[in-house]
Amino acid sequence: MLKKKLAVRDSQINVVDMGQGPPVLLIHGFPLNQTMWNSQILEFSKSHRVICPDLAGFGLSQCSQPRLHLRDHARDLSEMLDVLNVLESVIFCGLSMGGYIGWEFWKQYPEKISGVVACNTRAANDTPEVARGRKIAAKSIFKTGTQLLARQMAPRLLSSGSQEQTSSLQPTVEKMIEQTSPDSIAAGQIAMSARTDATSWLPMIDCPALFVGGEYDEITTTQEMSSNAALLPNAQFIEIKKAGHLTPLEQPESFNDQVLGFLNSSQFCQR
Ligand code: MLT
Repeated sequence: MLKKKLAVRDSQINVVDMGQGPPVLLIHGFPLNQTMWNSQILEFSKSHRVICPDLAGFGLSQCSQPRLHLRDHARDLSEMLDVLNVLESVIFCGLSMGGYIGWEFWKQYPEKISGVVACNTRAANDTPEVARGRKIAAKSIFKTGTQLLARQMAPRLLSSGSQEQTSSLQPTVEKMIEQTSPDSIAAGQIAMSARTDATSWLPMIDCPALFVGGEYDEITTTQEMSSNAALLPNAQFIEIKKAGHLTPLEQPESFNDQVLGFLNSSQFCQR
């Protein structure tokens, strides 16, 4: 898979840019990296231009200033699209934190979005208790290290509904978490804790949208996701069976079938 490094603001963004056709932007969750989308890159790039970066500070992307607000990631993405000379609007596909960044991207650059795929994510911001927990986690990661976080977090991200599958994916997910720097993990927690509640924006997002939930997702439930989808004028919700929080990684075939169906059949807005 051809990866390139792009100078974007103060960062070097590692990005896969593959295929031709309507552009689809794939944005990973926390604290992961763009390799979580490997199966989607291969399939979607047969019919679409797939742009799949590591967010600044994650994976192989470096930055000199940690991103303490999700809108900073949104700005990086907008400028990265300019550097890549993407002139059309994109279908924004984000998972969890990638989805939170998607709402910010829509808020700042609505003309750059032609469609939305919101995976295992929510529009609401953190409750005060969750935000407090994130601030504590942001401090403690420097003492506890990323290995412990990986051991604790990977089982929560993966489905508890299929033991066999979970145990085969667990090392991959743990490795992604372990390799993320404590600085970026802390910055991600602070940025997510400070995010704005995007619920009131949803009725204004009038492009075609697909919400994808995992049957066993304990972090973002299918109930919450289908209620979010109902707030948009042109959205549908689907549930991926036998998947937890990482639907594209856990059930790539079913995820790809359903998302490609949406990508190939919707009338995306070009502004
Ligand atoms: C993610 O997968 O990006 C995280 O679960 C998001 C979060 O911590 O809210």
